[in-house]
Amino acid sequence: MDFKKSAVYQIYPKSFCDSNGDGLGDLKGVTGKLDYLKELGVDYIWMTPFFVSPQNDNGYDVEDYYNIDPRYGTMEDFEELSREAAKRGIRLMLDMVFNHTSDRHEWFQKALSGDPKYKNFYIFKKGKDNGEPPTNWESKFGGNAWKYVEKFDEYYLHLFDVSQPDLNWDNPEVRQELQKVIRFWMGKGVKGFRFDVVNLISKDRYEDDYEGDGRRFYTDGPRIHEYLQELNAATFGTDAEIITVGEMSSTSMENCYRYASEDGRELSMVFSFHHLKVDFVGNEKWVIVPYDFQKLKHILFDWQTHMAEHHAWNAVFWCNHDQPRVVSRFGDEGRYWKESAKMLGTVIHCLRGTPYIYQGEELGMTNAHFDQISQYKDVESLNHFRILQEKGLPESAVYEILKIHSRDNSRTPMQWDGGKYAGFSDAEPWISVNPNHVRINAESEMQDDDSIFRYYQKLIRLRKDYDVVAYGDLEPLDEKHPSVMAYRRTWKDQELLVISNFYGKEVIWDAGRGLNGYTRLLGNYEDSRLNGTKAELRPYETVVLYRQS
Ligand code: NOJ
Repeated sequence: MDFKKSAVYQIYPKSFCDSNGDGLGDLKGVTGKLDYLKELGVDYIWMTPFFVSPQNDNGYDVEDYYNIDPRYGTMEDFEELSREAAKRGIRLMLDMVFNHTSDRHEWFQKALSGDPKYKNFYIFKKGKDNGEPPTNWESKFGGNAWKYVEKFDEYYLHLFDVSQPDLNWDNPEVRQELQKVIRFWMGKGVKGFRFDVVNLISKDRYEDDYEGDGRRFYTDGPRIHEYLQELNAATFGTDAEIITVGEMSSTSMENCYRYASEDGRELSMVFSFHHLKVDFVGNEKWVIVPYDFQKLKHILFDWQTHMAEHHAWNAVFWCNHDQPRVVSRFGDEGRYWKESAKMLGTVIHCLRGTPYIYQGEELGMTNAHFDQISQYKDVESLNHFRILQEKGLPESAVYEILKIHSRDNSRTPMQWDGGKYAGFSDAEPWISVNPNHVRINAESEMQDDDSIFRYYQKLIRLRKDYDVVAYGDLEPLDEKHPSVMAYRRTWKDQELLVISNFYGKEVIWDAGRGLNGYTRLLGNYEDSRLNGTKAELRPYETVVLYRQS
């Protein structure tokens, strides 16, 4: 399966479908929905972690890499899912969380008991003479990134939650253990791996950061390429059918040229996040500022053109389980809900790179708008509910920020139908269902030829039917336009024009060239108004034009 022609669908199992009525999604629930995914047309399913875990970070705190958390089912359930998916031509991509484990992992428990072999699996350091932690680095979830262990009079590093100690990749035994994990799942027929925050595994100098939160000392570190090449050669690199994607936190493009180079020595592709920080202030996400459309275009185009020039491959996406819903973020979840959801989907699916769809995105699911702290479940959101108030923000202001940025916005149950719990479960779900499921749900969208679901089907198809969508180079058009994002893709004798209005006001866009010889492949209005060199774009209108010379 050519991953450049494929689409990946991300499943957050906890919120996808509950088969046994305990309010938590599970593997059997996923199996039961494979026909739906087949109908959508996706090629891979990326499953976020379902391994044994105390679930402090919803499975990104792994206690046992070899077994399924009973909350999600059994190994038989996994094998059944894998078999049934294969029957439908769908492959599974598993999520490997290798920067850290859970503090309940056997290795960390042995480390805490004082076993030197296992202490060296993690990063323990002495504090400063003045009693402060070894460095002033901040945890990604808030607070200092070091936890004191009295017994050793030492601290361990946790770039994420205190219950997620970082592994010491400089120790070859750690690397060998992690290779075994990959080989185990390869043995189960898994054909895809996503590597969680994998560009943080090579730590550099353990020094105070006076310019930032410490990330420059552990991001894209000095041995990162060596470690990825080693992992590749020892595991998935031996099977040409396997695809891989690395989640690259605060990465640089220069490093991504190597991570995702077509020479295949490291990974197939990368997730980078710079385009999703356009509604932050610097790296600070707990603020409310309008998103910067010019910056969004500039970053996307920059990555598109430079990665292509360096023969490297992007994963392209708006949504995942860590991001708010895109229609609420860059679209209009009210009046132009349908138009803007389709427009945003078009922009991503016509880029150069493998597109990822996050569950419910294909239905236009929106942010949760939770306004009670009991509704929030995410460790990062709960920490910041406290931290922001400690900084002096009134509670009401904190809620406004969480409603925009909390990761729980995308973690509400999948909206299958308009019933009590949205068809997700018979019991009360672990996290509240979005009340708009009565209107936004799979059942109704599958009956409607004009739905967002039906439109996503077409987007996925487009990449398979037109080589230019999969392989073409990209050239930005009229880059500085205040409300339109437009680009041209070219491949051999094929050309594609993608023109999108990101705002709720009509605009006349001048292409500077004739628009008449093109066929309209797709659009989110019944027709397209093209006249000579001009495109008249209605609110959130998008159009995909094609010609072959
Ligand atoms: C990135 C994952 O996507 C996120 O959900 C998780 O909290 C962190 N990595 C830590 O594993």
